[in-house]
Amino acid sequence: MSAKTVPPPLIQDRKFVVPLLCGPGPCAYWPSVTEALAKPVITPNCDEFYNVLDDIRAGLQYVFQTKSKLVLAMSGAGHSGMEAVISNLVAPGETLLVASRGMWDQRAIIIANRLGIKTEITSVPSNTTFSMEQLESELKRTRPEAMFITFGDSSTGTIQNIERLGDICHKYGALLLVDTVVSLIGVEFLMDEWGVDAVFSATQKAFSGPAGIAPVAFSALAEEKINNRKHEPSFYFDIKLLANQWNCYGDTRTYHHTLCPPMLWALRCCLQEIVKETLPVSWARHASSTAYFHQRLQEYSIELFVPKPEERLNTVTTVMLPEGYDHLEFHNYMREKHNILVLEGRGPTLGKAIRVGIMGVNATKEVADKVADALADSIQALKK
Ligand code: GLV
Repeated sequence: MSAKTVPPPLIQDRKFVVPLLCGPGPCAYWPSVTEALAKPVITPNCDEFYNVLDDIRAGLQYVFQTKSKLVLAMSGAGHSGMEAVISNLVAPGETLLVASRGMWDQRAIIIANRLGIKTEITSVPSNTTFSMEQLESELKRTRPEAMFITFGDSSTGTIQNIERLGDICHKYGALLLVDTVVSLIGVEFLMDEWGVDAVFSATQKAFSGPAGIAPVAFSALAEEKINNRKHEPSFYFDIKLLANQWNCYGDTRTYHHTLCPPMLWALRCCLQEIVKETLPVSWARHASSTAYFHQRLQEYSIELFVPKPEERLNTVTTVMLPEGYDHLEFHNYMREKHNILVLEGRGPTLGKAIRVGIMGVNATKEVADKVADALADSIQALKK
């Protein structure tokens, strides 16, 4: 080989000690998902392929609680859902009102601005949520084409009530776009009943699957805007083209890009598990195990970042990091001593809180007990 060529590198075998996954995601898989990831490569164009897509779309209609036809999954992490929802529904020069209380709505602002969309921002302190009065008066003031809001926010550990928000948005001619990445499956969410126009989620949270595929759904109003829009979103995120690939209308088996078979099988398997458990049982399991976790923390006098119980998210808890503690040292101790993964705060909770997910297959009282005991031990052990 000449001196100009690149020699083959040594790619070693690597070991990874799997901790108990109790951060804000990624979550542990359903055991059946591990098997599903090894299912055969499914090739485009055959009936088997479209049957899998149909199964996924039916499962997604159930988890989003929507009868809309325009339901599919983006090839990409949750961010691809965010970008698809924003870029298909708000044109450059139009206005997106962003209700901001954490890190994910900040991402929405960045994405929108890069697309040439104007953003208006309304905020609340990051350990609280919005009143409908505040959101309505901002809609009245800014008259946006759409409002973006995060339902469950993993950076703050809050859950936003949005039950009446669809009607309020529609009164001012705005579409309602909702991030359910860390909340879907763990918290009741009713797309049609609440008048949500576009929603995206991700599979590595309460779905208990791998990251890399992002469910999205659009209402009839959103579909109308997509079908009549004058702007072209990027090719990869174009929902009109993807709707044809996913055969949303039953007669459009058109190639767009190559979908990832293991991700399709994994998502389909998560949906089968969720259907088996049923949503109400899953919502109740998340609510009771997280409430139990909070009670255990209270017994240890460990404080939470979100003061009002009704504003606390049932999947991810933001636990106050006591004064003088280093979040990385805390993270490392939890991992090394207890083999439990919890994560540092992000955005407004960086350096202030530790984020704990009692979520997906790990939403159980046994896991809550283990994590509460390990947190208490770590606080004691790392006292300066
Ligand atoms: C990522 O999704 C996080 O919540 O940190």
